[in-house]
Amino acid sequence: MDLPAVPVTGSLAESFGAAFGRPPDGVWHAPGRVNLIGEHTDYNDGFVLPFALSRGVSVAAARRDDGLIEVRSRQAAAAVTAPVDGPPVVSEGWPDERSWAAYPVGVARVLREHGAGGATLLIDSDLPQGAGLSSSAALECATALALRDLHGVQAGRPALARLAQRAENEQVGMPCGLMDQSASLLCTAGHALMLDCRSGLSSQVPFDPAAAGLTLLVVDTRASHALTGGEYGRRRAECEEAAALLGVAALRDVEDLAGALGTLRDPVLRRRVQHVVTENHRVEATVGLLRAGALPEFGAMLNASHLSLRDQFEVSWPEADATVDTALLAGARGGRMVGGGFGGSVIVLTPADRAAKVRDAITAAYAERSWTPPEFLDAVPSQGAHRLS
Ligand code: GLA
Repeated sequence: MDLPAVPVTGSLAESFGAAFGRPPDGVWHAPGRVNLIGEHTDYNDGFVLPFALSRGVSVAAARRDDGLIEVRSRQAAAAVTAPVDGPPVVSEGWPDERSWAAYPVGVARVLREHGAGGATLLIDSDLPQGAGLSSSAALECATALALRDLHGVQAGRPALARLAQRAENEQVGMPCGLMDQSASLLCTAGHALMLDCRSGLSSQVPFDPAAAGLTLLVVDTRASHALTGGEYGRRRAECEEAAALLGVAALRDVEDLAGALGTLRDPVLRRRVQHVVTENHRVEATVGLLRAGALPEFGAMLNASHLSLRDQFEVSWPEADATVDTALLAGARGGRMVGGGFGGSVIVLTPADRAAKVRDAITAAYAERSWTPPEFLDAVPSQGAHRLS
């Protein structure tokens, strides 16, 4: 039987009605994120400092009690219906056209252990996929919040972030850390979130570049990444190997960097440790600068982070390097790649009165190299996940 088409205009609740023949019980929204600093530190039990974007994923949802989760999307033709009580989605080998549905179904399967049941979901996203802005975490978190509310699951937001991370690790097969789901669920407007990924404790750090005469540009380099690919997992395994050789629980515990570098024989592991240890210090220093109102100085931290990700952690890509170099030449104060790497986005901190010049210079640099033109997004620190209606 052909399903009624999902209308892509009008409200999401109206589209839900057209697609499923009944109104939703509610609509939930979860944002994507940009990480100011603290990259590849989360799975090393370290510190991160993300903020939530205004863009994200919305989910219109209705509870159901037949043990099924049914998912459709405004951005995809495929419809997926699966039992909530099933094996890890990754073991079922879903084909490409259904792969996006692994996130909501995976979340439902993890939340089931905490008392959640099924639901009918209609998804809508205005986040570019593969741009390193956590569209998958936004999808997980919007689904998790909807299922929690619909089924009365007792889980606060930090716990829900860990459950969404588990869904991505166990159900989707991507060994991510805790940053993206925490950012989506815990961030507040006007702030970045300082998160200690070991204790789970977080604090809100005011972040208002406009008040300091600055603009934070988010540049989607249009080089798409696919993090389920091996490089992310390899970096994580290298960090774990280095921690084991150094006799610490996680690289966050390395206090004597020079000593650690002297102990490790493998130059690759030395580079990884150098990045993680210095990046954790940069997060703490950045929090200090932001709290002191010394925002322009943050540019130097961005530059140091980018060089470390490029040369020590080796996760940057040509478009990201060219974006940062060009922005600096055009008068920006700093810039760096964000997210897991190998594609995605770059952030650039620039005096507001030079933002247009910096943007034009970046666009010209891409044109000179015959690359797909970059896209620029608004980077306003926004509210975390919430119920819309
Ligand atoms: C991806 C992962 C995060 C984090 C970043 C790198 O976004 O999902 O957990 O590890 O890469 O900082």
